[in-house]
Amino acid sequence: MQISSKDFETKTAEELVQWTIDRYGLQAGLACSFGMEDMVLIDIIAKLKGPITIFTLDTGRLHEETYQIMDRVRSHYGLEIKTYFPNLEQVQKLVREKGFFSFKESIENRKECCGIRKVEPLNRALGELDAWVTGLRRDQAVTRTETPKVLEDGDHPPLVKINPLADWTQDQVESYIEQHKVPVNALHKKNYPSIGCAPCTRPIEPGEDIRAGRWWWENPEHKECGLHPRN
Ligand code: ADX
Ligand code: SF4
Repeated sequence: MQISSKDFETKTAEELVQWTIDRYGLQAGLACSFGMEDMVLIDIIAKLKGPITIFTLDTGRLHEETYQIMDRVRSHYGLEIKTYFPNLEQVQKLVREKGFFSFKESIENRKECCGIRKVEPLNRALGELDAWVTGLRRDQAVTRTETPKVLEDGDHPPLVKINPLADWTQDQVESYIEQHKVPVNALHKKNYPSIGCAPCTRPIEPGEDIRAGRWWWENPEHKECGLHPRN
């Protein structure tokens, strides 16, 4: 069946998750970094009672608080989380040749590190799936304003990509979390609305953009790590 993005635009997040479960089951995977959006999706998945795969890319550079929320998800929801690590040889080579902070030196080096620690493991994870679900939202960044709710993923053919929260605002995400008492990463309370790897994420100042703390030394149009090349 051909996927027409238009057909899905009026569907709610719950309807899209249900559609994904019905159509793909465990052959669909939620890509989960345990940020606020992903926690909303986990709560929706738990309420709809899956089955769907949940996977995370552990870059090896995450915050302590991120590992804590991962374990909290296991105990709170009783869900299994499939963890993918970077390729051992590639990380060893990178660190031996360029040290632990090469990503600060240039955009090329930053993309190299994201490529090894995030993109290659993502491709391995997606290789086992027919569809993937993400927490992408249009108002998160200039690079995400055109994000469809459902699309044939041209970056990872033949997978279908589902972004159930594409049209949600930050306020909607926060209200859902409050209303449903969803556990969240403790860093959010310390002014980290968007969380990635520890050395590449800082807290934001009042009035700053929600992704201002991600790769803060780069321009907004470069702030994608390669997980979502063309939104
Ligand atoms: S990023 O590309 O800049 O790091 P962001 O943190 O906004 O992405 O997250 C957007 C979506 O990408 C998340 O909702 C999640 O679906 C996916 N994602 C990001 N980081 C990871 C990760 N480490 N593991 C799995 N999925 C991730
Ligand atoms: Fe490397 Fe930073 Fe990308 Fe993490 S976010 S993979 S540490 S460059």
